[in-house]
Amino acid sequence: MQKFRFLTAGESHGKALTAIIEGVPAGFSIDEVFINNELKRRQGGYGRGGRMKIETDTVEITSGVRFGKTLGSPITLVIKNKDFENWQKIMSSAAIDECSDKSFTTCRPGHADYAGAIKYGHKDLRNILERSSARKTAIEVAVGAVAKLILKEFGIEGSSKILEIGGQENDFEGAIDRAREEGVTLGGRFEVIYKNLPVGLGSYVHYDRKLDGKIAQIVMSIPAVKSVSIGDGDIAHQVTGREFHDEMFLENGEIMRKTNHAGGLEGGMTNGEDLIVRANMKPIPTMRSPLNTVDLAAMTETSAHFERSDVCAVEACAVVAENRIACALADEFLLKFGGDSLDEIRHQFNFAL
Ligand SMILES: Cc1cc2nc3c(=O)[nH]c(=O)nc-3n(C[C@H](O)[C@H](O)[C@H](O)COP(=O)(O)O)c2cc1C
Repeated sequence: MQKFRFLTAGESHGKALTAIIEGVPAGFSIDEVFINNELKRRQGGYGRGGRMKIETDTVEITSGVRFGKTLGSPITLVIKNKDFENWQKIMSSAAIDECSDKSFTTCRPGHADYAGAIKYGHKDLRNILERSSARKTAIEVAVGAVAKLILKEFGIEGSSKILEIGGQENDFEGAIDRAREEGVTLGGRFEVIYKNLPVGLGSYVHYDRKLDGKIAQIVMSIPAVKSVSIGDGDIAHQVTGREFHDEMFLENGEIMRKTNHAGGLEGGMTNGEDLIVRANMKPIPTMRSPLNTVDLAAMTETSAHFERSDVCAVEACAVVAENRIACALADEFLLKFGGDSLDEIRHQFNFAL
């Protein structure tokens, strides 16, 4: 069961990234400046590579919105790749000479290159890199920004922050500078928080309706994310039930809690506390000081292909997670309070309070 659904398409150096979102009711305000600002947040962060200097991502809305309001019809978003100018021949969709100086056959460990080549029968590993690249997270952020605008109408706001980079809790930039000098890369840990969620988004009644499961899938699907936890989930195995669970008490007739170890989800449903999601991102696999690998064409040992790359992208990854989680929350919100227009949803929402 899904209400807010979307598909994306586009290669890293192709003409454009595209998304079609279906299920957004009529009457929501869509602010392009807000979407572009989310795209700018994804492009930022200390440790990013040369690509982010070329691209200034901006969204074009080509359907589903008129005079700044959603129509209820599918919304199409397009982000043009500015770098396509330099890649027109290499990324041509026409049946021209396949050889290009951007072809490569040496797998990068930690990337989709090897398994992708075997799975799809590609000889040129560029055929895999182009779609497996995290470039596609730009259009995912644009979709997430639309989801955020839906949530914003009801006072639900998200944010994210870095908790650690390469094991450092404080000197992030120093750690990134040292990694850059050594030609290596770093990962890290980040947190996403959503506030003002109503009680009861998600459900306990079936495994595929549990919101913790949906969020874990979404965050794990972000390139380079290797683990996800809800609230203090990653220390749950170390403490007693008394220490972990969040006791309830009454204050002026209202149900309150002093702690939020559960991260706002119990039984797969929002419980009215802040939603807290934490995740670990692995170090970027492409490195200036490359790893040993195999050339699949020559079947010889060699070093991995290097192409301009980030040294660290944890800040960007956190922004991607924040926006991707917004999609899950908007979906659940529309399922629970759904209608065909903002007015209908507002009526249902106010009725439930
Ligand atoms: C925002 C963001 C930026 C990334 N930038 C790079 C990069 O510049 N170079 C690189 O090799 N990997 C980069 N990655 C990670 C790879 O895309 C990812 O490790 C790879 O696709 C393999 O997927 P997996 O790690 O999920 O198995 C980035 C990931 C994110 C989320």
